Amino acid sequence: MDYFQIRGGTPLQGRIPISGAKNAALPILAATLLTDKVSTLSNVPHLNDITTMVELLGALGADVAIDESMALQVSAAQLNNQRAPYELVKTMRASILVMGPLLARFGKAEVSFPGGCAIGSRPVDLHLKGFEAMGACIDVRDGYIVATTESGLKGCDFTFDTVTVGGTENLLMAAVLAEGRTVLRNAAREPEITDLVAFLRGMGAEIEGDDTSTLVIDGVSELAASHYSVMPDRIEAGTFLVAAAATRGRITVENANAEHLGIVLEKLRDAGVNVTVEGNTITADMTEGQLTSVDLITAPYPGFPTDMQAQFTALNVVAEGVGRITETIFENRLMQAHEMSRMGANITVDGHSVIIRGKSSIDGAPVMASDLRASASLVIAGLAAKGETHVDRIYHIDRGYERIEEKLQAVGADIVRKSR
Ligand code: EPZ
Repeated sequence: MDYFQIRGGTPLQGRIPISGAKNAALPILAATLLTDKVSTLSNVPHLNDITTMVELLGALGADVAIDESMALQVSAAQLNNQRAPYELVKTMRASILVMGPLLARFGKAEVSFPGGCAIGSRPVDLHLKGFEAMGACIDVRDGYIVATTESGLKGCDFTFDTVTVGGTENLLMAAVLAEGRTVLRNAAREPEITDLVAFLRGMGAEIEGDDTSTLVIDGVSELAASHYSVMPDRIEAGTFLVAAAATRGRITVENANAEHLGIVLEKLRDAGVNVTVEGNTITADMTEGQLTSVDLITAPYPGFPTDMQAQFTALNVVAEGVGRITETIFENRLMQAHEMSRMGANITVDGHSVIIRGKSSIDGAPVMASDLRASASLVIAGLAAKGETHVDRIYHIDRGYERIEEKLQAVGADIVRKSR
């Protein structure tokens, strides 16, 4: 099993190119099922989760090819199967995102019930409630969700009980081929949803209200191909900017969109980081001044992203003062706190919050990743620590960060991937 060996204490200096956004590419890949034409996607990151989604599309009968520019060409003309198998769904919960497109185009979808994961139970009840509101019948048989519609999906006026990114994406993709108008209220507003809307519009879908919490979709009878470049990954960019600050370095991330990182950049500035934006580059400079702890509460976009919570926990660990971080989206997303304690962090878990008393230095130690963003936070802690840190179970990190050790090595990090 692979692990990272990290020797900390070096301020990171240099430029890091940002890859395409995993959480935009996944729903957009699912959306290619909505047409029998060939869609082309560029700036798709090379990540394990993307590979899993491509395998899933193949299992459903789609053809996926990579052209010489590494763009993905997806043809769902020969789709002969509407069943997403357990073997694939168990490795990636986002497989549930094929349900909306399959139901919309074929009137049937069978998806293995996605289990929970380390950060929470991850229910999909709101996805299913929305499909039922559009006229689908939902059954659960042998661990599979079976959704069917005899007369096709009908537009509806649906309000989400809680803001759900995946639920919004699934119902959006179902609505574009439904009969009539669908209004989705209390919808998620994440930039990845705006990216999906842009891709769907490129297919000829009629959608209003992106960037707001009310989406209005007028169904069309069929969709064309779309050729699209996936947005940059705001969480990857944010992660590297935090790593720059934690190591007292200076990093410029390239191909980034600062508009997607508003509150994250604000919090870095509150922490004393000199943050500058120039076009599609963002620079975090902590070579001077005092890094101070920040308080934050995660919330749906444009609030502070839960996917950046663990990284800021690592930042507070090596900052001056006391910071309180509260996780409101997932019920079990504070596990990195216990691992950082092994490195000497002064951190207390209090319900859904962590209280961090910053220290001038922490010590390297063997630690274990529990989920994607927790593993990134442990890498940041290792880079800031004195001595050697081993981060185990880094298959978590490979799901969401493209070549992370190479990108970090290029800016001076002493990080090596090893196997035991
Ligand atoms: C997406 O997950 C992201 N994943 C997550 O990123 C991200 O943390 C999350 O949105 C929140 O921003 C992808 O886009 C592939 P939700 P998703 O549905 O869609 C509850 C990462 O690290 N809920 O917005 O699964 C749920 O329990 C990953 O890249 C229901 O109750 O998240 C949670 O408490 C981790 N019923 C809250 O809503 C439902 O039917 C938000 O979940 C659906 C969700």
